[in-house]
Amino acid sequence: MGRNSLVVVHGQAHERLRSFVSNSINRPDALQLIAACVQPRLVSALHSWAQLGKFKAYKEIKKLTLQNIGKLFASLEPGPILDSLDKLYDGMLKGIRAYPLNFPGTASHHAIQCRKKLEAIFRVELEKKKKEEEQSNRVGTTNDLMDGLMQMIDEEGNQLSDQEVLDNIISLIIGGYESTTLASMWAIYYLAKYPDVLGKLREENLAMWKKKKGDFITIEDVSELKYTNKVVEETIRSANVSGFIFRLVTKEVEYKGYRIPKNWKVIIWLRYLHTNTENFEDPLCFNPERWNVPARPGTYLVFGGGPRICAGNMLARMQLAILLHHLSVGYKWELLNPDAKMIYLPNPAPADGAEIAFSKI
Ligand code: HEM
Repeated sequence: MGRNSLVVVHGQAHERLRSFVSNSINRPDALQLIAACVQPRLVSALHSWAQLGKFKAYKEIKKLTLQNIGKLFASLEPGPILDSLDKLYDGMLKGIRAYPLNFPGTASHHAIQCRKKLEAIFRVELEKKKKEEEQSNRVGTTNDLMDGLMQMIDEEGNQLSDQEVLDNIISLIIGGYESTTLASMWAIYYLAKYPDVLGKLREENLAMWKKKKGDFITIEDVSELKYTNKVVEETIRSANVSGFIFRLVTKEVEYKGYRIPKNWKVIIWLRYLHTNTENFEDPLCFNPERWNVPARPGTYLVFGGGPRICAGNMLARMQLAILLHHLSVGYKWELLNPDAKMIYLPNPAPADGAEIAFSKI
């Protein structure tokens, strides 16, 4: 991930970086800009999906997510650089949970090589930005996440180093790319399986669309879409994009009659929490109405918890809501293999990549 990445550093260094990163991607003013930036690309992708007619939802959403991330994070437009990022991230993802053997031929070695190439690509972008700033004599020329990280100043007046900027750009893409892709694919999958839910979603979003006279929606509009936000929550609960989180035991604890010694590592099995009948009634049913009442504390940890809670949780929710808005007002779709087998590694997904027939309403 990189020595300076948010997911790796601890204590004060973590707190400092977290506030940098949250300010850039997860706070209302940042989300407002992101909402405006992602919608043109989303609308044109949906239009091209309708022309394709039949496709694997996972594959097309992945392309769209990378285009949005490329633009938001480093002002990259579709082209050879984005194509190589896709391959390099794929290689990195496959090695992250592999056995850490670092010699040619292993997944871990390949991931490390991909990581080096990614860093080289983003370093070129960073140097380009610095040059542009120098030539134009102004700070921040593009307003993307890399610019945001380069400009941020902490309470003591310090800025992030180049290496901190690079490590965090790389690990934030790892955090946001596959997770957003999978959650979006599951939204499409569940809505195809639950037409009543899609009907209600469509009703709410058509009303919003008429109110906006077809204009793009803002984060204020998203917060008004009460039913849509329940669909977002139910999608994230059911999708279980992050199956588990790790914690190191820093102080001996007793839990349900077991003694867990200091320095042990504990896995919190999130998928179990979200599919446990003690926590959610009929947990395998996709039922947004269950969110009329908030989940009991400790039973719903899709984004983890405490100081390490997902740094992109609001961004992920907002992106899903925006996707649901545009999908539901303009398009219809059905699963080509509604009984497709499920795979569970590296993440739960239908084995056919959620192949759908897709058209304009
Ligand atoms: C549906 C989508 C997503 C899910 C389910 C998800 C889930 C998670 C989970 C479970 C964690 C671990 C939290 C913990 O240990 O307590 C995490 C951490 C993190 N996520 Fe996400 N995530 C999603 C989207 C995103 C996005 C869009 C970004 C940014 C672009 C992002 C960036 C991060 C980062 C940087 C961390 C590490 C935070 C830290 O260590 O302080 N995630 N995420």
